[in-house]
Parts: sequence; structure tokens; C-alpha cells
Amino acid sequence: MDQKKTEKTAEQLAAEQAEREAEEKRKQEAETKRLEEVQKFKNYYSYIKRAGADKLLEWLEEKGFFNAPASTKYHGNYAGGLVEHSNHVFKRLLHLAEDEDRRQNKTTPEYTLDSIALVALLHDVCKIDAYKIETKNQKQKDGSWKQVESYTYTNAFPVGHGEKSVFQIMRFMQLSDEELMAIRWHMGPFDSAVKGGSYDMNNAFSESRLAAMLHLADMMATHLDEREDKGK
Ligand SMILES: [Fe+2]
Ligand SMILES: [Fe+2]
Repeated sequence: MDQKKTEKTAEQLAAEQAEREAEEKRKQEAETKRLEEVQKFKNYYSYIKRAGADKLLEWLEEKGFFNAPASTKYHGNYAGGLVEHSNHVFKRLLHLAEDEDRRQNKTTPEYTLDSIALVALLHDVCKIDAYKIETKNQKQKDGSWKQVESYTYTNAFPVGHGEKSVFQIMRFMQLSDEELMAIRWHMGPFDSAVKGGSYDMNNAFSESRLAAMLHLADMMATHLDEREDKGK
């Protein structure tokens, strides 16, 4: 009887050890992926050629941009989710802008790479300090409890989503009116001002293709590149 109990305990220990090893492997893979995304972001960021870009990058590092998630429980809810999302938006926006130039038979691009990189990579800097990591107890399928890490929303500078990104960027760099409108209205119809009845998003999108395209790029990144069932 005792022997059987001991054997079962040994099995349990082996299973726990295997689970710990698998968890460790998952963490290492996630960290490798995060570092790849950080490198990609920095390569794209080098397209931004204007005064203040270096200082802003230092600030991003210091404030934890490269470790931040993109949301609490939806797309990119893990360390590095925000930098990965920003990279997706850059690639989507670049393609949209190129397609639009082609459609209009433009011989020179309507928007510079500097502008495209700036609005895409920095549209969500407002999220830099918006999530805090917490450890909580979570009930497992077998009825046991396990400590898991999760993100909760916090905002020490609540001035609106797009607005906050604009204010934070403009502490370091000048923005053109189009860049400003694009970042301000990147949430499109999901922005609380639009829900409250403002027509300014429509006006901004009529005024600027960059603004309209940034919103589309953000949607494509979130709902195509970052969907859970990527292959379907
Ligand atoms: Fe956003
Ligand atoms: Fe976004």
C-alpha cells in the first residue's frame, strides 16, 4: 500500500518536473522572439530621421516599451506584445501606402518612410505605462491552484488614447499635422470621442490618407496578424 503511494508520488514528481521544464522552454522561446522583435523595431526606427528621435528611443527603453504587452487579455497580452504589434502596424502601413501610390500612379511616394515609420511605430506609445503585472491564484483543471502572472490596466496620465501618444511623442519631436491627426485618430470609430458623436475622425480621414491608412493598418495588425487562430 505504502509502496504504491510512493510510486504515485514519484510519478507526480516526474510530471511536475516535466511541466517545469516545458514552462522554462516556453519562456526561453518567448524571450528569443521578443528580442527578435526588439531588433526589428530598432531597424525600422532608424528610418525616422528627425531631431529628438534618439532621445525618444532612450525614453522608450527606460520606460519599458520593449517589455510591455499590447493588451491585458486580447492581442499581444505578453511581454513584448506591444513592440510586436508596432512592427506589424509598420509593415501593414508600408504596404497600404505603396498600394495607394500605385493606384494613383504616383511617381514619387506620397509619404516618406520617416513619416510612415514614425506614426506606425509610435501610435501606441500611450500603452507604455498602461499595464502592470500581477500574480494571482488560478484554479487548474485538476482542481489544484497555481500562481500565474497577468496584466491589469492602469493609467497615470488619462488624457485619451491617441491624444496621450501625441503628447508623449511631442515632448521629444515635432509632428506634422497629418502625422498628428493619424496618431490621434488611429482608433477610428472605436475612439470614445467618435462614440460620443464627434465628426472629427471623419474630417481627419477626409483630410489625410495617412490618418485613414494608419487606422486600417492597426486593424489589420490586430485582427489578421495577431489573431489567435493565425492559420485559419
Ligand atoms: Fe491604439
Ligand atoms: Fe495599435
